[in-house]
Amino acid sequence: MSAPYILVLYYSRHGATAEMARQIARGVEQAGLEARLRTVPAVSSECEATAPAIPAEGAPYVSLDDLKHCAGLALGSPTRFGNMAAPLKYFLDGTSSLWLTGELVGKPAGVFTSTSSLHGGQESTLLSMMLPLLHHGMLLCGLPYSEGALLDTRGGGTPYGPSHHAGADSKRALDEHEITLCRALGLRLAKTAQQLETPRG
Ligand SMILES: Cc1cc2nc3c(=O)[nH]c(=O)nc-3n(C[C@H](O)[C@H](O)[C@H](O)COP(=O)(O)O)c2cc1C
Repeated sequence: MSAPYILVLYYSRHGATAEMARQIARGVEQAGLEARLRTVPAVSSECEATAPAIPAEGAPYVSLDDLKHCAGLALGSPTRFGNMAAPLKYFLDGTSSLWLTGELVGKPAGVFTSTSSLHGGQESTLLSMMLPLLHHGMLLCGLPYSEGALLDTRGGGTPYGPSHHAGADSKRALDEHEITLCRALGLRLAKTAQQLETPRG
């Protein structure tokens, strides 16, 4: 059995959600747990296009075993038309075997997103990303208002989870409040997992 870890699973096309994932991982590690960073391959509008099994750069692709054995999950996606990106949904749609056996029941989970526009669907994306996790029986962790950055932010940051405003050109870096809230989610997930001592196979 491997040491307990929080799976930080994300899709990112231009790097903003990936940077959020790295900040969440730092929060996880602050609690003394391993953060396992994983991504998903892009999906193709062409039938059955295949990508190399190992991405050219960045985090490795996730496996069902990464998800099955995690002590907790942080799930991140860019906002696409107010919802999560198709590659992440495609991966989640392939997790029925874990749903059938209840592998994720009782494990803590949180969600994060990045958008171009400030009011372009961060909250709808975060809330809709929670739905499959609830079907899996996971325990959702948002961000409490005891995190002062939730009140001070002029960019992203919601009680439903960390968010980032990337700007029209998608080049705006994470600001200090957005970073603080990413790390807070990682820390909260890790501490909750430690308190729950969720069983791992
Ligand atoms: C197909 C598509 C749909 C998008 N929909 C939205 C949207 O609804 N609201 C928004 O603010 N940004 C939207 N965006 C912009 C991305 O959410 C934004 O660029 C994000 O920061 C990208 O994250 P990444 O750098 O991790 O890929 C969309 C981008 C694409 C390609």
